Amino acid sequence: MFLISIFQFTIFSSALPVPPPIPVLPLPTSPQLSWQLSEMALFLHFGPNTFTNTEWGSGHADPSVFAPMDLNVTQWVNVAKENGFSRVILTAKHHDGFCLWPSDYTDYSVKSTSWKNGSGDVVGELAEAAAKAGIQLGLYLSPWDRHERVYGKTIEYNEYYMGQMTELLTRYGIVKEVWLDGAKGENEKDMEYYFDDWFSLIHQLQPGAVIFSDAGPDTRWVGDEAGYASNTCWSLFNCSDATIGGTDTKYSQQGDPFGHDWVPAECDVSIRPGWFWHKDEVPKSGLDLLDLFYKSVGRNCLLLLNVPPNSSGLISDKDIEVLREFTELRSIIFSHNLAEKAILSGSSTRGGLNDSRFDAKNVLEEGIYSYWAPRKDQSSWVMYLDFPDLVTFNVLLVQEPIQMGQRIIRFHLDILTENGEWQKVAKGTTVGYRRLLLFPEVETHGLRLVIDKSRADPLISYLGVFRDPFTNTNIVDSTNVVPKQDFRYRLLSKIQTKLFGWLQSSF
Ligand SMILES: *[C@@H]1O[C@H](CO)[C@@H](O)[C@H](O)[C@H]1NC(C)=O
Ligand SMILES: *[C@@H]1O[C@H](CO)[C@@H](O)[C@H](O)[C@H]1NC(C)=O
Ligand SMILES: *[C@@H]1O[C@H](CO)[C@@H](O)[C@H](O)[C@H]1NC(C)=O
Ligand SMILES: *[C@@H]1O[C@H](CO)[C@@H](O)[C@H](O)[C@H]1NC(C)=O
Ligand SMILES: *[C@@H]1O[C@H](CO)[C@@H](O)[C@H](O)[C@H]1NC(C)=O
Repeated sequence: MFLISIFQFTIFSSALPVPPPIPVLPLPTSPQLSWQLSEMALFLHFGPNTFTNTEWGSGHADPSVFAPMDLNVTQWVNVAKENGFSRVILTAKHHDGFCLWPSDYTDYSVKSTSWKNGSGDVVGELAEAAAKAGIQLGLYLSPWDRHERVYGKTIEYNEYYMGQMTELLTRYGIVKEVWLDGAKGENEKDMEYYFDDWFSLIHQLQPGAVIFSDAGPDTRWVGDEAGYASNTCWSLFNCSDATIGGTDTKYSQQGDPFGHDWVPAECDVSIRPGWFWHKDEVPKSGLDLLDLFYKSVGRNCLLLLNVPPNSSGLISDKDIEVLREFTELRSIIFSHNLAEKAILSGSSTRGGLNDSRFDAKNVLEEGIYSYWAPRKDQSSWVMYLDFPDLVTFNVLLVQEPIQMGQRIIRFHLDILTENGEWQKVAKGTTVGYRRLLLFPEVETHGLRLVIDKSRADPLISYLGVFRDPFTNTNIVDSTNVVPKQDFRYRLLSKIQTKLFGWLQSSF
């Protein structure tokens, strides 16, 4: 009996290939996949607030304040492109109600300014420049509108909002993301937004666009404006358990291992303290951005970094400098995957060892469409890396082929010690599109990635080990994998806190 089945297996395995494993629901849609692959987007907060030194404009600023003397959207797009941001999202209308395009439904727009004698269109210019550079376009249309007089009248305002949405989604070519939030001032007029009508309209007019909000439907707010996702971050979610404007932070940050909707998280954060440009504010450092990258893109999310153009209509030199630093850091750390030096093997291979479609080596190929798959019904799932020479590293990168569903629940990384024993150096929960783990630097000849728990057979599309010489990973707790701030920085902020406390108490 045993002999017969081996015989049959050999015949069948050499004759016909085993098909790929069955995907596990929920799965991403095509626009959601395209969104996830874009990894980083640049947010552009721009409008009258840029000129009035405000964050939430009252809606009563004179339109003439909007006077960018050197507005150049090609510069914005180039800054995005040169620094690895593959989409830009513009505040076409912020809460003040001012429209950066000449809407037919209001005069509170670029039409009423002296910029280009009232014949300009920021949305149109950006759409054109982005398309030319191969950068994707996203638009933010604030539901809360502090200028429009019909705001507060449910039917009228929903008509107004959908009229404007239609303008934005029919005049400017392909739009890849529509961004809306539940922000609303206290004591603001009570009214209902017809979200379901809006979402249907958006999907009709731009079938390739994802809709962002606190509750999806396509991508969810991560729940904080610090740009951090949780260590555990599922793209699975229940939209019905979330409301726009009433976010449960923990649920949004972690997602839901039992969620029936695919709604990955987007981490929005500003390079400066405010969302709009203010003369006296300074940007974060390149290292700060690297830390944000680890905690957003490195936790299965998209990083939406706000870089606000200044009142000249240009992205400030200081911000550009910091973005270049960030790009340089990433390129030094990630350009060299040490795993390429290793001999790779899996604890088992779907279709047998000779089926290259599921071979362990596939994890060195970039992208999500080639992957390692273990044989069915295994009790353990391990990938081994043997290095001919000692390698030194402190960063692990793991990716899942998310078009097949998000599967891995828990995993850990072991290294081979000098006396031939396995030693655990890092562990994590959830992988998803892209997972980065930091841990104190190790030196070894061999390592293994062990999948401890998975919703279905785990699949791995990319595996990398890198050396980050900039982040002090020696003070990172590997049981927690949250990178802490650099020691000098912590000391400095301790001194600052002390000083601040002392100043406060003496006045
Ligand atoms: C706009 O910026 C781009 C890129 O920085 C530059 O090449 C171009 O000359 C600028 N255009 C104007 C009119 O200044
Ligand atoms: C704006 O209008 C003024 C007077 O109508 C004209 O002199 C000027 O050339 C115009 N500027 C632009 C940029 O069209
Ligand atoms: C999400 O929905 C699933 C059923 O589809 C359910 O099992 C799960 O408990 C829900 N999550 C929460 C947080 O209620
Ligand atoms: C805006 O940034 C540009 C650099 O891109 C700079 O030349 C200009 O002076 C800045 N404008 C203001 C008002 O700071
Ligand atoms: C697998 O491939 C190797 C070398 O390519 C070959 O020698 C071996 O016979 C193959 N085994 C099977 C079962 O096809």
